[in-house]
This record gives sequence, C-alpha cells and structure tokens, in this order.
Amino acid sequence: MSLAKRKFDTLVIGAGGGGLRAALQLAQADSSVAVVSKVFPTRSHTVAAQGGMNAALANVLPDNWHWHMYDTVKGSDYLGDQDAIEYMCRAASKTVIELEHCGVPFSRMENGGIYQRPFGGQSQNFGGEQAARTCAAADRTGHAILHSLYQQNIRAKTHFFDEFFAIDLIKDEAGFVLGALVLEIETGEPLLIEAKTTLLATGGAGQLFRTNTNATINTGDGLAMALRAGVPLQDMEFFQFHPTGIAGKGMLISEAARGEGGYLVNKDGERFMERYAPHAKDLASRDVVSRSIAIEVQEGRGCGPNGDYMHLKLDHLGSEVLDKRLPAISESIRTFLGVDPAKDLVPIYPTAHYTMGGIPTNRYGQVVVPVDTGEEEIPGLYAAGECACVSVHGANRLGGNSLLDIVVFGRAAGNDIIQFLKENHYHRPMPQEGIDQAMARLARWDQKGKGEPVDQIRQELQTTMEKYCGVFRTEEILAEGLAKVLELEQRMSMVRLQDHSKVFNTARIEAMELDNLVDIGVATVTSALARQESRGAHSRVDYPDRDDANWMKHTLYYKENRQLDYKPVRTKPLTVESFPPKERVY
Ligand code: FUM
Repeated sequence: MSLAKRKFDTLVIGAGGGGLRAALQLAQADSSVAVVSKVFPTRSHTVAAQGGMNAALANVLPDNWHWHMYDTVKGSDYLGDQDAIEYMCRAASKTVIELEHCGVPFSRMENGGIYQRPFGGQSQNFGGEQAARTCAAADRTGHAILHSLYQQNIRAKTHFFDEFFAIDLIKDEAGFVLGALVLEIETGEPLLIEAKTTLLATGGAGQLFRTNTNATINTGDGLAMALRAGVPLQDMEFFQFHPTGIAGKGMLISEAARGEGGYLVNKDGERFMERYAPHAKDLASRDVVSRSIAIEVQEGRGCGPNGDYMHLKLDHLGSEVLDKRLPAISESIRTFLGVDPAKDLVPIYPTAHYTMGGIPTNRYGQVVVPVDTGEEEIPGLYAAGECACVSVHGANRLGGNSLLDIVVFGRAAGNDIIQFLKENHYHRPMPQEGIDQAMARLARWDQKGKGEPVDQIRQELQTTMEKYCGVFRTEEILAEGLAKVLELEQRMSMVRLQDHSKVFNTARIEAMELDNLVDIGVATVTSALARQESRGAHSRVDYPDRDDANWMKHTLYYKENRQLDYKPVRTKPLTVESFPPKERVY
C-alpha cells in the first residue's frame, strides 16, 4: 500500500500554548496550517500550568518591563540571552491583552483590572521590594489560555490531526526541513505530511525524572527529533526542580501558594527561608528555594517519619483565599495527600518541573546552528515553547515566565514563518532516503521475540536521572549516572514489544517515547558532567561557585559521538544597557 500524504504550508508539531499561538497567527493570515498532536489538543501540558503569566501591567504594584527584564536576567544566573529577554519582557503586556481579547478569563480585581500576584524572583526597581507581576486565572491559568487558543484556532480553521504521533523530521540534501512522518494512533497507519515550514512545539521532557510535575506525554519528542536531524541541544544541564511538589509523588503545588502568602517550615516549625534568602524569603527564585529545602532535609530538619520533606503552611490564609485564589491546588492537596490545606500543614519536596535547555532558536523562532561565521538558520525549521531554547531562561527560569515565553515566541515564530512563506512558494521534493529512514524507525517496533520490556527501562531511566542528576551534583555522581544511561541506551536495542497490533497500540507509542527520553537523558547528563561550575539550577558540589571567566557560555550537545560545543551568551540587549553578571542574592 502506498504511503498516505498530505500537504500544508506549515506543519506544527504539538498543540500546547506555543504551537497553538503560532498556528493561530498563521491561520489568521490565511496560510494553510496543520497541527499534529499526540493527545487531544486541550490535553496538552500547557493545561497544567497553574500560577500565571508574567507581564508588567502594574495593576497591583508599580512595575515596568525593564524591571521584569532585570529580574529575568538575574534569575537566569546571567546565562539568558539579553536580546531575547528584552524582546519577551517588552512584548509581555501586549501579549496578555491579546489573550484577554481571545477570551482568556483572567481573575479580576475590584476595579475590573486583570489580577496579578507576586511570584518568586520578582522585584520593583531592579532588585528592590517584591513586585506583583503574574497575571492569573485563579490557579488554572494554563487551562484558561490553552482552551481559548484552541477555540480561536477552530474559528480560524486550523487543521488538526488529533492523536497523531510524530516519528521523525524529513530533510533534504540542502538541509531544508520538509515536514515529518507521523503515525495515526487510532489506525496505526503512517502519514507523510509535506510542509514548507515545520514548527516543533512538543514541550519538555519532565518524564526523565521519577518525581515530576509533568504530564506523561512530556517525553521530549521534539528534542529527540531535532537531535536525530543533526541539530544540537542547548544548555541541557539546566533542569528546573520546582520547590513545592507533593512530597513523594511530585504533582505541582503552584508557587502561587507562596505568592498568596503561604510559607515553608521545617520540622521545628521554623520559617527556614529567612535564613537562606533574608529579603525575598519564600519568594526567592526556584533554584534557591529548592536547594534550601534539600539542605534542610540533609541536615536533619526534615518532617515526617523519615525526615524527608518540608511543610508548606497555608492554613493562615483562610478558606476564602484558598477557594478563590487556589482552588485547584487545594483540591490536589485533598486528593493526593488526604489533608485539608485550610487546617493542615502540606508535605512538599522539590520535583522535576521544566526543561530549560532545548532546541536552539533565535527570537524569531528559527532553529539555529553554529557555523564558522556565527550562526545559521536551518531553512524551514522552527521551534517554540518548552522544547525551544531561545534562551530567555538561562540557568534558572522564573515562575510565570514559561506561559509568557510560549505565547510570545509562538507568535513571533508565526510571524517569521509568514515571511518565509512569501519567499518560498513551492514545496521542495522529499527525498526517498529520508522517508525510508523514518519508516525504519517505525518498523523497528515490529521486531518479534523475547526482549526487555519498555516499562523496565523507563523506570530505571527515571530513577537513575533522579539519583544521579538531581538538585546537587558532583563529577563522581554524574560520571556514574552517565555510565548508567549509556547502558540503558545499549539495552534499548534489546527491547521488544509483545503487542504488534496496529489499532490504538499505545505500547508502540510508549516505546518510541522511551527512545526519545533515553536520547534526552544522555544529552542532559553529558552536558551536566561537562559544566564545571555552579550556576542556577546546576549545582555542582565540587565546583560550588559560578565561573564567569570560563563558563559564561551555552552548551551545545550533538547526538553524533556525544560531542559538545559551546557558544557565547548574548549579553547585549536590543535597546538598553546590558546587565553585567554580579553576585545573585535574594
Ligand atoms: O508554580 C507554578 O504555578 C508554576 C508556574 C511556572 O512554572 O511558571
């Protein structure tokens, strides 16, 4: 049977906020755009974003985009690219108002303005008093944004391929990306989608770690597709651990809980963040709070029978605030912990949350690779959202900057694609070799016989990453971790499926997801082992200080030979003075 084919101007892979914002820009410009999503679009992980989206609207306290930019650069531990950060912070207010006009039901203040709450790492006046910059729809902001963007896309006639899994990108000899081979999950049939431009918007890879806040779909598919297409991954050593995951389980308790006045206490009832961050306390940036929690536990001040968690105190907020501002996390706490946040202390521990590294892009969403003269775009390939590394988060993302990043750069990518399409009218022919390679990746799972189960390798990968590439790292621990993930990579060739049926064979999807995760695991540990300094979320006990003289640079990891390269941080903003690195205190 011949391979089914479809043609569009643009193929968007992933239906979270980044993909849908780009698709909307394109569909509204009457461009033909297809969105491929392995889940129904409104189940994409953006739906789980809780606390909000940063923009200096100044609705609650004085604010401006330049203060936001300062906080983001400082939060990134000076590894963020300052041109992209300026672009994002300047665009933020307009972007929020655009979303409001798309129908996003933001929470309101008495005067009708959009409600904004304080979040970690935010300040007024370049490091002064706490700011309140996070625009919120209660604690379901991602849900509100994703649903509105989906509805707007339906209205604009974006074509959706729901429950299709992307297998691999197809490139030609000249290096153009020409679309992708995808698999219809319901029928098990492959489909070739030809496109003049392809946008990867597949989200992060939080499933690398055993305890995480991520949906099970977050398996780094786009990151691994980029790696296989010869694109390096940038800054993969920087994985964010959110301070307040439900202890032992990992589900997110939004930073909004602390933004609304909750705080952390140890087994002695001490508000310990006062010792680690005397000024910002519980609203220091996430890397600082996560490390402080881990130290409290290590030093014997942990709560519970095993002394392995801290408590989040919310009871003093009262039922009215909890019901109005934090209804979803109150529900999660009741469901997963069986305690009442209006009366009881809540057990929390840091949990893997966000992939700060990713596919290197410029601020137009174009995927870029280093060449002798600097950087060059991969023609036809774009990335946006968590899978992309612009880089606005550097070594540590500020809470509330993720929803902002995906919408700002999803929109920017859409605009740049419109320009690209004006100059590239025709579909270039797809090389048979590229199609065959992608088909072989699918056919590999038809191999029969005895072998290792997918679950086994997946569990070992997650526990290995948690143990050997967690909040605190050393050369010895990382080297052992790398040996273990490389062994898992070897064992992948021995994995066999027992179910070879085609129809809704989720085992086959999980196997391909695991294949992707293993590649990302190797990239993460290799990059972490190489970076001999502590910066942001990458805490090397053996190199406790930040080393700007040697490490003010981005890591680039290539799949071929697990090779590493580096590129400079872009310290020059677009219009304002640069923020030079200084000691980072909260
Ligand atoms: O804590 C939170 O609500 C998460 C927000 C974020 O990661 O930006």
